Amino acid sequence: MRNGVIAFRRDGTIALMNDEAYRMFGLTPSGRDVGRPFADVLRDRQEIIRVLSGAFELSHLPNRAELRLKELDRVIGYTLSQVKDDGGTPVGAVLFFKDLTQVEQLEERERLRDRLASLGEMAAGIAHELKNPLAGIEVMAGLLRRQVPDSKDAQSLLADILSEAKLANAIVVEMLEFVRPVRLQVERTDLRDVIQQSVTMAESKVPRRDVIVRVNIEAGLPMIESDHHQLSQVFTNLVANAFEALDGKGRITIAATTTAIEADPAFAGIHPPTPAVLVEVADDGPGVPAELTDRIFNPFFTTKVTGTGLGLAIVRKIVDAHDGRIDVSSTKDTGTRFRVTLPVTSASGWFK
Ligand SMILES: Nc1ncnc2c1ncn2[C@@H]1O[C@H](COP(=O)(O)OP(=O)(O)O)[C@@H](O)[C@H]1O
Ligand SMILES: [Mg+2]
Repeated sequence: MRNGVIAFRRDGTIALMNDEAYRMFGLTPSGRDVGRPFADVLRDRQEIIRVLSGAFELSHLPNRAELRLKELDRVIGYTLSQVKDDGGTPVGAVLFFKDLTQVEQLEERERLRDRLASLGEMAAGIAHELKNPLAGIEVMAGLLRRQVPDSKDAQSLLADILSEAKLANAIVVEMLEFVRPVRLQVERTDLRDVIQQSVTMAESKVPRRDVIVRVNIEAGLPMIESDHHQLSQVFTNLVANAFEALDGKGRITIAATTTAIEADPAFAGIHPPTPAVLVEVADDGPGVPAELTDRIFNPFFTTKVTGTGLGLAIVRKIVDAHDGRIDVSSTKDTGTRFRVTLPVTSASGWFK
């Protein structure tokens, strides 16, 4: 970050103003400003004029002070000093300043991270506390159901209570999963098992009805180092979403193939590509509208009436923890395809 400088004489005329100063104040540099009163040149920046005007009036000049330029949404840190002649008489003054906007943004981001961390803890706490009363509601509604076997109205109300309580419980469980930090229990994992299990789990969450599921695993696909349980979670969520999108009819294709993750371009030629597997989960459903694809991974983003919006957020978190990649392509005509790339050996497993 470079510094801005404005020097001016006792009579208020500018002796020097560098390019950085023009840039920070949002003004166009002009060689003709030297010799003009700063009150003219900076007339659109009244905050600065006020600071400069204090140069010969204040007994203590500001040192490392901060100023917020509201219209520019910029923060500067500045020091104002007098320039004296040999006899000690002030003949002018200099304002040195620095753009602190970036520094501020970094601090702001830090604060946000802290806030999110404590929010996560709080959410985990609340979710945990909710589990017991919810289980209580489910149990007692179940008991009540047996006590009024003949009342059709009561039965249907109780069925509603039960299904709402189940939904609330599912939200709580997902919320806990989402806020819990990922700790991988890395083992050698056969993706065949993981995918099989995921399809079964997704079926238990969302009725499959007439949806056809095809699984294509490349012959000789290597075992990968991963957390078996958490990886199942990834594909369960993707397949459950596909079931929901297809709404009882259509086709899901899950394919696993060998691939490689290219090294960072900066290291190309130095680090060889990392061996990896690519798992694609594709459905021929209605697709994700283009304007929403950026948001589907955001926590709590959902287009479903009873959705939690946490499924894909959890997917991303687990894939990240495996140093993997995920992306999605979707069109109205062809449906939705999620591509998950996972390194064969997980370096992070050793460090995390
Ligand atoms: N296979 C898919 N087809 C169409 N839309 C999808 C698919 N998968 C995810 N989405 C969209 O992404 C949103 C977020 O998904 P997710 O995070 O799993 O939350 P939820 O399933 O609770 O809505 C869904 O509400 C849906 O709009
Ligand atoms: Mg989902």
